[in-house]
Amino acid sequence: MSATALRTGAAILRALSAASATCLHAHALKLSVVPSCLHCCSALLKSYAASGRIAAARQLFDEIPRPDIPLWNALVSAYARSGHPRHALAAASAMARDAGARPDGISVTSLLSACAQLRSSVHGRELHGYAVRNVVDLDLPVLSALVNMYGRCRRLKDARMVFTGMGVGMRTAVSWTSMINACSENGRPTEALEVFEEMRNSGVKVDEVTLLAVISACTKLDCMSSLGDWVEQCALENGFLQNTRIANALIHMHGKMGRVRRSCEIFDLMGLRTVVSWTAMIQALAMNGHGVAALVRFAQMLREGFQPDEVIFLSVLNACGHSSLVNEGCQLFKSMVGEYSITPWMEHYGSMVDMLCKAGALGEAFAFVLAMPVKPDHMIWRVLAGACRDHGNASLARKVMDHVIGMEPHHEGNYVLASNLYAADEDWRRVVDIRLDMGARKGTSRGAIAASYVEVNGD
Ligand SMILES: *[C@@H]1O[C@H](CO)[C@@H](O)[C@H](O)[C@H]1NC(C)=O
Repeated sequence: MSATALRTGAAILRALSAASATCLHAHALKLSVVPSCLHCCSALLKSYAASGRIAAARQLFDEIPRPDIPLWNALVSAYARSGHPRHALAAASAMARDAGARPDGISVTSLLSACAQLRSSVHGRELHGYAVRNVVDLDLPVLSALVNMYGRCRRLKDARMVFTGMGVGMRTAVSWTSMINACSENGRPTEALEVFEEMRNSGVKVDEVTLLAVISACTKLDCMSSLGDWVEQCALENGFLQNTRIANALIHMHGKMGRVRRSCEIFDLMGLRTVVSWTAMIQALAMNGHGVAALVRFAQMLREGFQPDEVIFLSVLNACGHSSLVNEGCQLFKSMVGEYSITPWMEHYGSMVDMLCKAGALGEAFAFVLAMPVKPDHMIWRVLAGACRDHGNASLARKVMDHVIGMEPHHEGNYVLASNLYAADEDWRRVVDIRLDMGARKGTSRGAIAASYVEVNGD
């Protein structure tokens, strides 16, 4: 089955379960079992939540005169699982306030995931204390959620403490993976791999999610290519080499390690490719300076009927930038907007400006920026100004700066940018002019002026 068919299938199932929830809800109302039967309400609420209809779930909840504790817990979990962490926390407080009820183990797990989503270690720590005091027998899901929460909140020590307290025999693939991710996401990829080694020694079966975490850790250690072979071997041993998500991650990893040939081999052997696979492949080629090959792959992808998205256009534009394929880049940008009706992100504009500047087409870059339908961000101006300086083009630099200052005369950063630019050009008189101009406009903010003098003099 193709990826599109699978995705469509999943969407149909979701729609069906949403439709059946609505239909059941209507019947239940007719039979007046809702809202009086709390079991029915709870089941309905869960099926609304499972089909992503969180507003309908909430509405149902609000119609229940006296929701019981399982219902409150169902609401909290529904919010946390559907990416509404703030609502989940609010529902938990309302539950304590209105119903005098306390979250149970299941909703503590959901709430910990809400804290992880919010990166809020304050709430997370509170919940940890609460769980220790109130949840009899902290079970594995709660403990794994704690490891995950502390990892996300940049509290690696705490994550490690909970993990160590678990006992090796108790840990599941989920607990191991939480710890691997905690290390990897907190700048300790080597430690992540050590945890993985421990996991393999303990005999717990490695699953897809674990392997993805390990590949991501290896990708962060991009200087060690022997590691790439090793993790690929792990994938092979566990029967995951034909797994699309694993293959995508491997393509990306090898690309970052500069082993683009291996990326191509894996890509060519894949049975089921998604847009993400194509993006990983094209990005790997782009990063390693194979712009033409990236464009060839992109054309192949279009021929095979894949719909390009924002991200893949960003990759091909980067590929053009890395390999000075200016005409191709401009054409791609045009077709992205015209043919595929994709609204460019700031990153696409930035990528174009970067490409034009790298190729020395400063005039075109400036014209491109002037024609942008949205306000260019500071990064874009900095790229343009930097290119003027690198090419020693003082006249264009002046035009650029006059434009920037004309648009936002009171933005102090502009003056600093401008004076650095002119200073680099050794046009000292102009620097003094700008200083004076700035002093007149900003008579009160002497500190800022002094600071930028220092910056210029330090150059
Ligand atoms: C500066 O760039 C503009 C636009 O590309 C160009 O017309 C001009 O000749 C350049 N000046 C110098 C000194 O390179």
